[in-house]
Amino acid sequence: MGLNVVIAASEMLPFAKTGGLADVIGALPGALEGEGIEVTIFMPLYREVAAGGFDINATGITVNVAIGNRVIAVELYKGRHDKAVIYYLRCDEYFDRSYLYGTDEAAYFDNIERFTLFSRGVIEAIMRLGINPDLIHCNDWQTGLIPVYMKTLYSSAFSNTAAFFTIHNMAYQGVFPASSFDVTGLPYSAFNPEALEYWGQINLLKSGIVYSDIVTTVSESYSREIQTTEDFGRGLEGVLAERNDRLFGILNGVDYDIWNPQTDKHIAANYSNKDLKGKAVCKKALIKEYGLKIRQGEPLIGIISRLTDQKGFDIMAEGMPAVMKLGVGVVVLGSGERKYQDLMTKLAKTYKGRFGVKIGFDNALSHRIEAGADFFLMPSRFEPCGLNQFYSLKYGTIPIVRATGGLDDSISDYKGGKGNGFKFKRYSAKALTRKVAEAVELFKDKKAIKALRIKAMTEDYSWKRSAVRYHELYKLAISKAQG
Ligand code: ADP
Ligand code: GLC
Repeated sequence: MGLNVVIAASEMLPFAKTGGLADVIGALPGALEGEGIEVTIFMPLYREVAAGGFDINATGITVNVAIGNRVIAVELYKGRHDKAVIYYLRCDEYFDRSYLYGTDEAAYFDNIERFTLFSRGVIEAIMRLGINPDLIHCNDWQTGLIPVYMKTLYSSAFSNTAAFFTIHNMAYQGVFPASSFDVTGLPYSAFNPEALEYWGQINLLKSGIVYSDIVTTVSESYSREIQTTEDFGRGLEGVLAERNDRLFGILNGVDYDIWNPQTDKHIAANYSNKDLKGKAVCKKALIKEYGLKIRQGEPLIGIISRLTDQKGFDIMAEGMPAVMKLGVGVVVLGSGERKYQDLMTKLAKTYKGRFGVKIGFDNALSHRIEAGADFFLMPSRFEPCGLNQFYSLKYGTIPIVRATGGLDDSISDYKGGKGNGFKFKRYSAKALTRKVAEAVELFKDKKAIKALRIKAMTEDYSWKRSAVRYHELYKLAISKAQG
């Protein structure tokens, strides 16, 4: 009989998304089912999920969840995605809000309560529904309490269930003041440095790491990087290095039902590696949409990104004067920190007609950029995996990336035809500019750039390969939990 696995996550496509986690949770279950694994998913019933017109129904089942000295009734709703069953935890007080975690300026003040309720609610719901999973796969700090509940308060019910934790980003740890510890209802033994205490505070990501049987990150390079310096490990490098024997990296994949230029409904014209004509139509439409004044024959660079320190906007902005001299156009789609919004808007003013910016989160536009650009720039300071480089390959939009984390694992430097993109090592404006110049140089050679596009589009990063690896590690986690 196949494994019975629960996946808990705070976002999932097509229901709610702020970043790549949603893409992963939207696609991985389908690939796991291909491995014969039965998957049940849990996520919060946010306002945007309730309003999204999805086929989601009340089950009539309620679980009571203790939050500090309150008991909150959480209603379970049910839906489906591929073959997987999804349960949505409804608690309007916490989840009927405009955003998932807070605004660009500030996180919601009660996130510790919101995600304690989610984590403990998942545990209560699994018991109430009689699911009996072999393993619970948790993702990021929002689910970091699930493993500690499994191993402490609820250990008798979960003695045969493995705790599996995937870190999608060390930069978000869910750190809260010690005074919130009572919200969790956990035994005080959990508040120590060997457990979830962190410099006098509570750290939910640390909880997930410390209490899980197996921990993964979303690329092999990142799984090594985070054990080295504070820049990568964000203070948990020691904790991670100590657990090196149960820490692994599995590269994310792509959902080609969503990201495929042959079938994409969002783009001006469809195309494939056999016939690239549609790509030129998409480029023309994109230049028009951004109101750029560049010619069709000039190289166009796309950027789609959360506007945070992680993504390399400082070196990008510093390199822009030199990059613009190369005769390129740039289109940016981003949402996030105000300082980067301002920086991008300023660049758009300085290079009017050649540098276009749209601030906001716009899924359809992200597809049009992938299709219409010639190159895709990801100069990340660090990158656990990154997904847009994969999407870019499929759309024949050549990635220019910094060699870090998943970008390093998926993109190889062109070097006279060997690689699938352009890759630079040093985190500096100079290294970035030099690499863009190489890409622009190749662009002049129409035959070579076409050959590179076709090669990129032919590469396969579907989820199957990753699902096989998750399956292996699920089995290892279960043997550890039961051994
Ligand atoms: P991260 O999760 O760190 O943001 P990833 O590359 O893994 O980075 O995933 C980002 C996902 O979010 C991609 O699917 C990307 O297309 C999408 N995305 C990022 N910013 C925006 C935006 N402003 N509008 C639409 N989609 C966006
Ligand atoms: C995180 C990372 C990104 C990764 C995504 C999905 O948000 O920043 O690199 O691709 O999670 O795993």
